[in-house]
Amino acid sequence: MLPTHAESLLVAQSLYKEYDRHPVVRDLNLAIRPGEVYGLLGPNGSGKSTTIRMLTGILEPTSGNVSVSGHDMRREPEKAKASLGYVPDEPVLYEKLTALEFLDFVGELYSLPKSSRRAAMNDTLRMLDLENRAGDRIESYSRGMKQKVAISAALLHNPRVLIMDEPITGLDPIAVRVLKGMLRKMARSGAAILLSTHILEVAERLCDRIGILVDGFLIAEGTMAELSAKAPEMSVGGTTLEDIFVGLAAGEEHKDIIASLEAEEKEPAKQAGNGDLRPTGQERNVGT
Ligand SMILES: Nc1ncnc2c1ncn2[C@@H]1O[C@H](COP(=O)(O)OP(=O)(O)OP(=O)(O)O)[C@@H](O)[C@H]1O
Ligand SMILES: [Mg+2]
Repeated sequence: MLPTHAESLLVAQSLYKEYDRHPVVRDLNLAIRPGEVYGLLGPNGSGKSTTIRMLTGILEPTSGNVSVSGHDMRREPEKAKASLGYVPDEPVLYEKLTALEFLDFVGELYSLPKSSRRAAMNDTLRMLDLENRAGDRIESYSRGMKQKVAISAALLHNPRVLIMDEPITGLDPIAVRVLKGMLRKMARSGAAILLSTHILEVAERLCDRIGILVDGFLIAEGTMAELSAKAPEMSVGGTTLEDIFVGLAAGEEHKDIIASLEAEEKEPAKQAGNGDLRPTGQERNVGT
């Protein structure tokens, strides 16, 4: 069923992308409403970053449409991008600048008045515990600190639509907790948020709806309860999001591999008896 588009802040219609005639995102439909946090999950190479780059207007789709806050990405790219915040999978920062200088520059790009720019910068830097180092050059930051700058830059203009590609990568548990709170707060004030992640605990606790992308197809979408109901009987068993994800997204061969590894763990004695290659007591004595 196609999503309804009325009132949705972020919409993708029949989004399709191919590289060298090889499809990597196929006929994707999404509609994310104000107040909603949507989690895009999928195995490596399933098309999450490609989808996200098309949603942000960085990558031209082979076919299909994107609209942000009611503005078509092809026809009104500047208006569409003005209400958008984006955290890429790899932070793109001017590393010779300090975090303060970089964020000031980003604020200027979004035409934020100097006073509100300062207030917004101080706010996010304090929340993400970067205040003390904000005057140092970004090139001297750790991986997680750079990620925090990228997140601060995306949040600076208080976007109505926020798109984040694996934003949690590299963040410490305190920063993850703070970020989850910040995103929920933004959603409560009416923003639409889409994030991709491999951290299923984050998806489960943070997201109102989850979509699972496999080989470019959105094979399942819904709340946790809806996904649980859709998950087929699977060899891995269980009801966590990880069980559901593996059940829906893994191929039969990988389900078998997982099942046999987990069976081995449960029955070590039996396995040792059947397949143990260590010499028996008698063999050990040979030649001694
Ligand atoms: N510029 C490109 N040229 C050719 N193929 C590409 C290009 N970019 C991505 N692909 C292919 O598109 C597919 C989807 O890649 P994508 O980066 O969207 O996956 P992903 O779901 O974000 O994976 P990951 O979880 O590893 O980040 C992969 O098969 C990848 O090799
Ligand atoms: Mg990716």
